[in-house]
Amino acid sequence: MNDSVRIVEVGPRDGLQNEKTPVSAADRIAFIEALVGAGLHTVEVGAFVSPKAIPQMVNSDTVLRGVQHLAGEFHVLVPNEKGYDAARAAGAKVIAVFASASEGFSRANINCSVAESIERFKSVIARARADGVKVRGYISCVLGCPYDGEVQPKAVADVARVLWDLGCYEVSLGDTIGVGTPRKARHLLRAVAGAVPIAHLAMHFHDTYGQALANLYAGMEEGARVIDSAAGGLGGCPYAPGATGNVATEDVVYMLEGMGIATGVDMEKLVAATNEISRLIGRTAVSRVATAINAKRRRANSE
Ligand code: HMG
Ligand code: MG
Repeated sequence: MNDSVRIVEVGPRDGLQNEKTPVSAADRIAFIEALVGAGLHTVEVGAFVSPKAIPQMVNSDTVLRGVQHLAGEFHVLVPNEKGYDAARAAGAKVIAVFASASEGFSRANINCSVAESIERFKSVIARARADGVKVRGYISCVLGCPYDGEVQPKAVADVARVLWDLGCYEVSLGDTIGVGTPRKARHLLRAVAGAVPIAHLAMHFHDTYGQALANLYAGMEEGARVIDSAAGGLGGCPYAPGATGNVATEDVVYMLEGMGIATGVDMEKLVAATNEISRLIGRTAVSRVATAINAKRRRANSE
């Protein structure tokens, strides 16, 4: 597996959307600058969603404008045409629409059924394509739903096919509540690869039950090569009760480099970015690698 992997850093969006401590637009921009400086060039930076639903993502227009000069590809979430208008006005070149494989989560998260959400996305995607804006498609709850329980791979593959046919360049499979295990992840990737070419599938695994790295490895064995992760293992969704953060970017980078897959990420700079955002939100990063590197540094400093 010594070929390349693309990392999509989602910390500034997924990582911060569930944090209680508000983070200013200036600090969000500084976080993104630090991530890009560490070598992460595809970063999800914000969301143009209802401020009542996710107050943490207000000022995503300021954030997006504030990072456009950096060398990178910056993504933002868009749930509907209102969000698309705002994202475009702020200069978005890549947007992400987000559907669910389960009805319960769709209803809780975006207040409509899966079929209604697809109808909404049709006009957004059509406008984006006409404007030359790339569209990524998320599917949540691919390995289980906090409301509906078990989710069948076929339900995921059906939504994936629709998003792909509508023109999404990539479909990201979200284990929103981090309940998956490697065999299930493998079966899922195999089933969805029948609908969307595996090169166009991303793995977006939350680490609630500590399975994310193992699930990623299983997905990589199936041929998947795009990984969503968040610096420090930040993340979660207010509509996915009990779910914790995304798999940590540090942990993914450590695993990939150990497998001989170059990521181009400077680990020292990445840990520095994680430490700074952790200080701002007032909690310790859950990343095992960041914890290990920080402890090593403390030991070295005290010698
Ligand atoms: P709704 O209440 O059904 O929408 O919400 P509505 O059209 O009836 O509008 C209600 C109000 O929201 C109105 O304002 C609209 O103007 C406003 P009011 O008249 O009451 O003052 N509004 C908006 N404001 C700003 N931007 C917009 C927008 N749209 C409507 N785009 C809606 C439906 C989808 C808007 C809402 O439920 C929402 O914003 N949900 C977003 C939830 C969210 O962001 N969840 C987290 C991201 S998903 C995730 O984390 C999973 C993922 O990481 C993958 C994984 O892990 O699985 C991606
Ligand atoms: Mg997520």
